Amino acid sequence: MKKIFRFVGIALLLAFVLIQFIPNDMPGNEAVKGMDIFEISDIPEEVSVHLKNACYDCHSHAVNHPWYASIAPASWLVAKDIREGRKELDFSAWGSLSLRDQLKLLVDISEEVHEETMPLPIYTFMHADARLNSEQREAIIRWAESYAEALLE
Ligand code: HEC
Repeated sequence: MKKIFRFVGIALLLAFVLIQFIPNDMPGNEAVKGMDIFEISDIPEEVSVHLKNACYDCHSHAVNHPWYASIAPASWLVAKDIREGRKELDFSAWGSLSLRDQLKLLVDISEEVHEETMPLPIYTFMHADARLNSEQREAIIRWAESYAEALLE
């Protein structure tokens, strides 16, 4: 019995080492200058902190990679979230979006934050500073609404 455990242990360790060699296609951080939402609009402090802490790691080209982001299999999940997150919403490319897309995203942002589907639970599990309380969610929703109104003026 002991031998079997040792064998399984070694096999798992070997598998862990081997998967490190599989490319994870981690998306890079190269952003187009002048297009970030922070560069084109004034975002109140009580909102900007949360966008940076709770959204930017998946929805921007200013991603801070945690230490485990370079270790498989976590790296595959992180890379996938960034790729898919940016496809839906890239705060670093905000300025290149049409007015219509910006308005739609602002509505989506307030919905996702209101329903607490964003930030992703797997992310808040690992990042305490990304957990939003109701006051913080309210601040984001209020900002998204007033920004949308300002865009329509
Ligand atoms: C861990 C990565 C991650 C974080 C952090 C994160 N998101 Fe997302 N987000 C995603 C992914 C992946 C998708 C696309 C798949 C989906 O909709 O679930 C997405 C989709 C979205 C969408 C589009 C939803 C739709 O389908 O209409 C919005 C809007 C959004 N996120 C807003 C936010 C906001 C606002 C924050 C911060 C409060 C945030 N997200 C934090 C990964 C993330």
